[in-house]
Amino acid sequence: MAKKASPSKKTTKIHVGVLYGGRSGEHDVSLCSAASVVEALDKNKYKVVAIGIDRDGKWYVQDKPQIIPHKDFGKVLALKKKGKWLVNHFEQNNQLRLYDLSSKNKKVIIDVVFPVLHGTFGEDGTLQGLLELAMVPYVGADVIGSSVGMDKDVAKRLLREAGIPVVSSITINKSEWKANTQNIIQSAVGKLGLPLFVKPVCTGSSVGVKKVKEKEKLAKAVNFAFQFDTRVMIEKAIDCREIECAVLGNYNPQASILGEIVPKHEFYSYEAKYIDPDGAALNIPAKIDLALSDKIRKFAVDGYKALGCSGMARVDFFLDKNTNEFYLNEINTLPGFTSISMYPKLWEATGIKYSKLLDKLIELALERHKKKLVIKT
Ligand SMILES: Nc1ncnc2c1ncn2[C@@H]1O[C@H](COP(=O)(O)OP(=O)(O)O)[C@@H](O)[C@H]1O
Ligand SMILES: [Mg+2]
Repeated sequence: MAKKASPSKKTTKIHVGVLYGGRSGEHDVSLCSAASVVEALDKNKYKVVAIGIDRDGKWYVQDKPQIIPHKDFGKVLALKKKGKWLVNHFEQNNQLRLYDLSSKNKKVIIDVVFPVLHGTFGEDGTLQGLLELAMVPYVGADVIGSSVGMDKDVAKRLLREAGIPVVSSITINKSEWKANTQNIIQSAVGKLGLPLFVKPVCTGSSVGVKKVKEKEKLAKAVNFAFQFDTRVMIEKAIDCREIECAVLGNYNPQASILGEIVPKHEFYSYEAKYIDPDGAALNIPAKIDLALSDKIRKFAVDGYKALGCSGMARVDFFLDKNTNEFYLNEINTLPGFTSISMYPKLWEATGIKYSKLLDKLIELALERHKKKLVIKT
């Protein structure tokens, strides 16, 4: 049977595959970010295809994206496990194809992927590698920016090399820790003092992060952090304000105005971020004098470039309350993206509304892809 020709208006729409959920500890946060993204994508320009990834890593194309209420996050994008989807990433024709093996002839085609996936297997370069293989444009940092952005230890070394201030720390792996526990405790406290922060090298959302005030409690915090990664960072604690900057762009990235997170807990823990509805206040703009703010914004762009980022990233700083010295803490290449999250809020305050920001991110994905296509391999 001949296929029906689709009306021309429909064919010109860009098919945006919103990938959400995923295998990381930030699965639920992603469902929430995805609800805002799907809602705000301009339906005159885009055909939105929501692709939910469950906690085991299975992909499910949603027949109709559905936004539902959630006890902690207000609203989330539902993830229905229907069909038996096969992802074809070897056709190399700048599109991603997904076939439903449980339903004859059912397939979807994606022109650009919008990964709304936080943490492991979404933000860390692994998904980006798959999309590079498929030669499909995708939003956000590419493989290198994503993977070094996720690795607090490698990121720190690159930032330091670029002349960007970072907090003093040591990083240890599990076998070093097991063989030298007492020596490591002595040298960490000797070199960095107390209190300390202990964190897994490659997590986000404060998962596995502990503040340690007494030497005797360091081992417990380190062992706890090792549950989430094979490497752990022990860092000097800074009595700080937490300042964030949104950066956007590929080859000429721009910095937004600054925002401040004021946690109501001892630090910006998982509970303060997601469980306690009054866990933290977001102040936009951050109350900082102009000269210092310009300096931090410049360092945000320098840090973004040093890590090889493109598309977008939220760059987080610690500003020492006592000395006014600042440190770049981390670069998040897939920051929280709900309509009330810091990244879109900062752009809104700088003059780019949420749905225009999504347009811009898709444009940047297509621009980078076009530039990569002409590179000789
Ligand atoms: N060296 C530090 N000094 C002061 N607070 C810190 C330090 N390291 C982490 N924190 C606190 O812990 C939170 C989470 O740490 P962070 O390094 O940002 O990890 P994550 O990637 O999980 O967000 C920070 O937002 C801050 O509140
Ligand atoms: Mg953080």
